Amino acid sequence: MKKNIAPSLLAANFFNLSSQLELLKKGDIEVLHLDVMDGMFVPSISFGMPVISSLRKSVDFFFDVHMMVENPERYIEDFYKSGANGITIHFEACKHIDRCISQIKSFGLRSGIAINPATPVSLLQNIISEVDMVLIMSVNPGFGGQKFISYSLDKVRELSKLRDEKNKNLIIQVDGGVGVDNIKELSDAGVDEFVAGSSVFKGDILKNILDLRNAMGR
Ligand code: DX5
Ligand code: ZN
Repeated sequence: MKKNIAPSLLAANFFNLSSQLELLKKGDIEVLHLDVMDGMFVPSISFGMPVISSLRKSVDFFFDVHMMVENPERYIEDFYKSGANGITIHFEACKHIDRCISQIKSFGLRSGIAINPATPVSLLQNIISEVDMVLIMSVNPGFGGQKFISYSLDKVRELSKLRDEKNKNLIIQVDGGVGVDNIKELSDAGVDEFVAGSSVFKGDILKNILDLRNAMGR
């Protein structure tokens, strides 16, 4: 499977977004990770539909919307209309995961389930055949710039095994504290998509992307 770095917009400087997005394009980035926070499921509030739909008019990245939102079924159609290409909901935020995943797929979007650090991979063993992607959160969601939680690596390995058994096409994404020091290990463990906020936007964006790719060994 193709390996992708998915920069998280949360870490960008919102005053001059367009020049930073230009740099992502130059760096051959295809997936843009969009962190939507509701102040309920997570302590912080980020951005929502108006920001995403105005970006949609100007850039053609794959929009990977990470909904850190309680009862996400309330907003799936709105994010679809705003221009999302994929929507990830949290296992912990939704009572009827199966229904919610069907709802995402009914709009033709890539469907994803995210699990918090303390949520075991084994809880996904049935739903895994129905989703396109699983996101292993490697920090407690809510903020950028946190330290990678080391046991997440074991969770990736466990998920990778489950993928072999139940859904060979599953995309494994990891989000939180990803950088040059752990990207190779994560890749070897089976991660396909690496969400990276600070490690892309802090400093020289183009160089950061190249460094991450080099560190990954691809
Ligand atoms: C955290 C968000 C992440 C975050 C990653 O709740 O889901 O996407 O922006 O930021 P870094 O890469 O700085 O840990
Ligand atoms: Zn995220």
